[in-house]
Amino acid sequence: MKILAIETSCDETSAAVLEAKKSQLKILSNIVSSQVKLHAKYGGVYPSLAKREHQKNLPIVFKKVLKEAKNPKIDAIAVTVGPGLEPCLWQGVNFAKELVRKLKSPIIPINHIEAHIFANFISPQYSILNTKYFFPAICLVVSGGHTQLILMKDFGKYKILGETRDDAAGECFDKIARILGLGYPGGPIIAAEAAKYKIQNTKYKIQLPRPMIGQKNYDFSFSGLKTAVLYDFKNRVPKIRKSPSYIKEMCYASQQAIIDVLIKKTIRAAKNYKAKSIILGGGVAANEELRRQFKEKIEREIPNTKYLIPNIEYCTDNAVMVAMAAYFNRSKKTNWKKISANANLKIG
Ligand code: KG4
Ligand code: ZN
Repeated sequence: MKILAIETSCDETSAAVLEAKKSQLKILSNIVSSQVKLHAKYGGVYPSLAKREHQKNLPIVFKKVLKEAKNPKIDAIAVTVGPGLEPCLWQGVNFAKELVRKLKSPIIPINHIEAHIFANFISPQYSILNTKYFFPAICLVVSGGHTQLILMKDFGKYKILGETRDDAAGECFDKIARILGLGYPGGPIIAAEAAKYKIQNTKYKIQLPRPMIGQKNYDFSFSGLKTAVLYDFKNRVPKIRKSPSYIKEMCYASQQAIIDVLIKKTIRAAKNYKAKSIILGGGVAANEELRRQFKEKIEREIPNTKYLIPNIEYCTDNAVMVAMAAYFNRSKKTNWKKISANANLKIG
């Protein structure tokens, strides 16, 4: 079985072909066309511009992905239907519908959050039959649009335990980077600046809040953290604001505040639900410090819990994870006429 997947939920236009032979899955091709450079000047994704770019890029990406996969016979089309930016999602959905009509193949609608979770199961020699021992799992999906803690009882069985009440973790990285004048996307830039900081060299003694860290629920809130960064920044004289030492220290402090909250709440959920594994996903899961500190904490506090993180390249949006999710949802093939984009689609 060969699945062609399409992803346009935010600012990456992506297509991939996945081959499933018996229980072995193989990526035949994967193309990601990123718009980040275009959106950088706005300090975030500009939806109408993103929509136009998807429209322009989809036929190009489609041609490339088929060529790279050596023009395979496609058995099913998978497409992200939500959550995401509605005008962007529609571009992918309409493109997929058109393909389905032409190829007369079935269509599988995919939830973007579920796809981020499935990014963990991408591997060239992966045997999908051995995965039962991961569940129940606690999944933390952290991206530019979402921050959700999800209880995963099995493939396809999800319950949202908590989510952000305001900004997503990635959005917080992006907004802090904008305050500091560092460009977009903020996550990788802040991570790079933070890596240059040596904790013993503290000059500014920056103190930032860890919103909701002590609360028993599984919700998050990041807008207060961003505001605290803004106040600290505004209270500094212009010379300090622009100084590399201040930027490095602030990047380190804000990254650590985000990491502390994410780890604390996820580990608490894992303990409470007796999880066999913790699974990360989404663009923020590409953060090296987050990955390292999570590993350390799990080994120290819940050493019998497995820890799954996607390869860095599959943390941010891509169509391979959509194809993976589609393979597991292959029984959900549906009539293309029934498919529509839903910006607020929930998992579960
Ligand atoms: O999953 P994704 O590609 O798109 C959405 O579904 O939103 O995530 C993009 C987000 C951006 O906010 C970006 O700043 C963040 O992921 N990000 C990172 C890193 N790489 C990307 N955040 C922290 N550290 C990183 N290394
Ligand atoms: Zn995403």
